[in-house]
Amino acid sequence: MKEKLQQIKEAALLELKAADCDTEALRVRYLGKKGELTAVLRGMGALTPEERPVIGQMANEVRAEIEAALTARVAEEKEKALNDRLAREKLDVTMPGTPSRMGHQHPLTRAQREMEEIFIGMGFEIAEGPEVEYDYYNFKALNIPENHPARDTQDTFYITDNILLRSQTSPVQVRVMEKQSPPIRVISPGRVYRSDALDATHSPLFHQMEGLVVDKGITMSDLKGTLETFAKKMFGEETKIRFRPHHFPFTEPSAEVDVSCFVCGGKGCRVCKGEGWIEILGAGMVHPFVLENCGIDPEVYSGFAFGMGLERVTMTRYGIDDIRLFYENDERFLKQF
Ligand code: PHE
Repeated sequence: MKEKLQQIKEAALLELKAADCDTEALRVRYLGKKGELTAVLRGMGALTPEERPVIGQMANEVRAEIEAALTARVAEEKEKALNDRLAREKLDVTMPGTPSRMGHQHPLTRAQREMEEIFIGMGFEIAEGPEVEYDYYNFKALNIPENHPARDTQDTFYITDNILLRSQTSPVQVRVMEKQSPPIRVISPGRVYRSDALDATHSPLFHQMEGLVVDKGITMSDLKGTLETFAKKMFGEETKIRFRPHHFPFTEPSAEVDVSCFVCGGKGCRVCKGEGWIEILGAGMVHPFVLENCGIDPEVYSGFAFGMGLERVTMTRYGIDDIRLFYENDERFLKQF
């Protein structure tokens, strides 16, 4: 039995040295419940009482030795695996990195920020209003009663008979005047909606920027001066503006305002379609009815308002000929700005 134990030990230790040793299989084969060492211990019953403790002790020693060698071998393998992995995954921190692509502001956002800066520079504050609006603010308070023809050109999307997606930023005028007493000097940029089919110059969703000034003694020349300053800052110092008589129910008198074409300087070219002028906004003196609707006395105060299309201004500024380009998220377009 001693020889048998000796044999088992030698065989196990030898196998453990082999390069392709399967340590787990070896543990089962020698030390497991059905393993060789256990088999020997089972045969102990046949021994004499004197032999039993001697063989028992020896068997324990053999087991301990095999276990120790096995543990050492497993530890060795683990370390080797770790070293291999470290070598494989070695990182050269001096290698040039892969640059991540930086995005930037959408051209409309950029134009909006630029316009905001210009008006803030003239003392305006930014006011906001809801895109889902009451008929009252979008139309009635602006002197556009039901069945007024002005509603035709501003047909929009209705949530209920009374609630709609605003077709212009002008309702913000009313909301500001209801809350604030003069002097008022605000601009209000934001989304507006109209049930227009999408084509090169129309979109059911677009953006406007409203302007409103109310104070004592505000006149048309204040409006002209403000818009001229804006146009020069936005399109260049040589830019001229032109007022054409127009009609809006909420301003009186009303005008449409053009800027001289910044490409040809007014001679006529492709950008201004040979006109020399480009229309960018509607404006006028706030109608006395509108002031009254908002609890402001038109005998004491007067004001002007204007509203311009953000897409319009941006397209003019950058020579973009299709409004759809703004909404398609095509990077080939967006990257140019
Ligand atoms: N809200 C008008 C439009 O959408 C523009 C406008 C604003 C006109 C303010 C006059 C004063 O056409």
